[in-house]
Amino acid sequence: MKRVVVLISGRGSNLGALLEAAIPVIAVVSNVPEAGGLDIARRHGVDTGVVDHRTFPDRAAFDDALAAAIDRHRPDLLVLAGFMRILGNAFVAHYAGRMINIHPSLLPAFTGLNTHRRALDAGVRIHGCTVHFVTAELDHGPIIAQAAVPVLPDDDEPTLAARVLEQEHQLLPTAVRWFVDSRMHLDGRHVRIDPQASPACALLAPTPA
Ligand code: GRF
Repeated sequence: MKRVVVLISGRGSNLGALLEAAIPVIAVVSNVPEAGGLDIARRHGVDTGVVDHRTFPDRAAFDDALAAAIDRHRPDLLVLAGFMRILGNAFVAHYAGRMINIHPSLLPAFTGLNTHRRALDAGVRIHGCTVHFVTAELDHGPIIAQAAVPVLPDDDEPTLAARVLEQEHQLLPTAVRWFVDSRMHLDGRHVRIDPQASPACALLAPTPA
């Protein structure tokens, strides 16, 4: 059985979705001591750890301590599920090919923060979320899977965020399951899933009358 460690910074709803989907999460590490996701982990009997970035003199020292807290669990896969710290190049290289992130936009659109606000401002008709491998360039790693939602005329940031989050909770466990079942292969910038099942059209928005 593959061993999965999850990094969080906040409420942990994506972590909850992984646990509900019976993903073999063996430990959860947070950089925020008060993160709600730590309670979710404890309720599921999962080992928890905190590496508080505020207690380290620089990023390298934080990254080293974080890697030590992770590696004692000997993970096959590291999942960033709402982990809100930028990780240094050495850390990213250490977990190359075995660290994935969930990002709340259809990458490569809207990398970085405030994705829902920026999608609304841009007037896009379709928004969504992406699970991707983490590489040194922020939110630019090979894309594993994406889910799309329509942007509706009356949407504001909270309604759009909620619609996307619902998809995140489907997408992340699905992608992690592929990794755990060894059905995911990284080939340069591309990710292959066996067997590939691709509907011809996932979403058209607005829906034609
Ligand atoms: C999610 O929207 C995720 O895509 C983003 O941060 C949010 C975390 O939510 N990176 P939660 O902590 O999983 O509830």
